[in-house]
Amino acid sequence: MEIRLMQAEDVSAIAELEKTCFSDPWSENSIASELKNPLACWLVAVEDGSLAGYVGSQTVLDGSDMMNIAVAPAYRRKGIAEALVLALCEQLRNRNSICLLLEVRASNTPAISLYEKLDFVQIGRRKNYYRNPKEDALILRKELL
Ligand code: COA
Repeated sequence: MEIRLMQAEDVSAIAELEKTCFSDPWSENSIASELKNPLACWLVAVEDGSLAGYVGSQTVLDGSDMMNIAVAPAYRRKGIAEALVLALCEQLRNRNSICLLLEVRASNTPAISLYEKLDFVQIGRRKNYYRNPKEDALILRKELL
């Protein structure tokens, strides 16, 4: 498995995986625009030439937000999400980011377990933050220093 920065050739496969995984997916255009966004850092995991997963982030000043992460169903429970988050943390440290924040659906046990394993700490809760279906978001933070 290879982890590398997102390139233009990855965009359509990422958009497909967004549709598979989320009720409110990012469009292909929005993902493509991140290639030109100096605040963005997106990584992909490639296995046997196929997109296995990706993670996207944006950094403002010294803090970063994880915008999304997904692993294709056939590649789950092999440590790919963990490897993507750790690689992202390394990239963000190199960009002088001191923390990584994210929101996650309160019922998303696989993702919450992943973040707990990687030392994210809950710092808040946003009531009814998500739609389709309506649900609270937990706000988690990981120190990068
Ligand atoms: N149930 C419980 N814990 C889980 C889990 C599951 N189904 N999937 C992952 N975890 C936790 C475990 O602690 C695991 O460590 P372990 O294997 O030593 O037990 C750790 O996460 C790392 O798992 P990993 O194999 O790296 O995760 P993954 O590659 O399967 O990807 C997601 C995890 C959440 C990214 C994947 O399930 C996914 O794409 N879900 C749909 C999209 C999504 O919900 N994204 C998060 C938005 S906030």
